[in-house]
Amino acid sequence: MPEGNQKFAINNLFDVQGWTVVVTGGGTGIGLMITQAFANNGARVYITGRRPDVLQTIEKEWGSKLIHPEGKIIPVPADITDKSSIQKFAQEVARHEDHVDVLVNNAGIDGDTSTVEKGDESAEALQEQLWNEEMKMWEEVYRTNVMGHFFTTVAFLPLLSAATKRGKGHTGSVINISSISGITRTSQHHIAYNTSKAASIQLNTLLAQELRRSGVQIRVNSIAPGIFPSEMTASDSNAQNKSTIPTDESYGRKKGIPAGRPGGEEDMAQAALFLASNQYLYGQTVTVDGGYLLEHP
Ligand SMILES: NC(=O)c1ccc[n+]([C@@H]2O[C@H](COP(=O)([O-])OP(=O)(O)OC[C@H]3O[C@@H](n4cnc5c(N)ncnc54)[C@H](OP(=O)(O)O)[C@@H]3O)[C@@H](O)[C@H]2O)c1
Repeated sequence: MPEGNQKFAINNLFDVQGWTVVVTGGGTGIGLMITQAFANNGARVYITGRRPDVLQTIEKEWGSKLIHPEGKIIPVPADITDKSSIQKFAQEVARHEDHVDVLVNNAGIDGDTSTVEKGDESAEALQEQLWNEEMKMWEEVYRTNVMGHFFTTVAFLPLLSAATKRGKGHTGSVINISSISGITRTSQHHIAYNTSKAASIQLNTLLAQELRRSGVQIRVNSIAPGIFPSEMTASDSNAQNKSTIPTDESYGRKKGIPAGRPGGEEDMAQAALFLASNQYLYGQTVTVDGGYLLEHP
């Protein structure tokens, strides 16, 4: 460990060089931002998702141009709603690595929407809207955003704990990507999604409690993002798998975001590196939302 003034250098405070990182849903949106944050600072990052072509694009467009010589992006397709697929994914990582420093449970879906927020519909009209929602959609959203994060964490437990046992001064850690949607009292037109994200925040707390035990020693924290550009929020991505949310000067006022803009790649990268590198952070949900929750408590 560096001594004296040296330890306060940014490179020491946020050093992830040589780390092994796993990011689910790492091929687009927020997952890609986090993947680039680690890989460009010298980590080997295993990314997963259901579409192999999307993952291969990342390797070609971003993995081949990393600014750190030790950085790497390694695609391994998997479906986090399927236990055997998760298990194969963890086994594939274990074939190459004897530990995992950080698991980022990021993969998620938002499901369908209903126009119910602060409307003035009659009971009958509101009922019609809500009754049209499918139980299957609710199940898929919960299965991905909650069960998928739970079982992926379980699959990686020994590898994460092995990072702690290496005695390099840091613990293996999990970062769950929840959402301000799990905190705000407005439904944002998608009650199923917001319910799943509230469950994600509680899952984060429970896992933090369970995994801190002395035989395991894994830290668990969560980032609750506000609005960031992704396939989920912009409906699409370009040839480099990047998405854009069109904005103008009125964006912040219209959306109720004091920062006046959607979240940027650096905002998310800084949050992920902070949670990964700060060894004193346990069981927290850190909101990174440009002030959204101040206007939508
Ligand atoms: N963007 C925002 O404003 C925002 C705000 C708050 C929270 N979030 C959360 O951030 C996370 C990332 O979402 P995003 O906004 O970046 O959207 P996105 O671009 O749609 O990313 C979601 C990623 O998850 C992957 N995925 C979905 N289902 C999967 C499954 N069953 N197995 C494996 N991978 C799966 C997708 O790839 P495949 O389709 O190829 O599987 C995709 O790469 C989500 O948990 C989301 O709820 C986003």
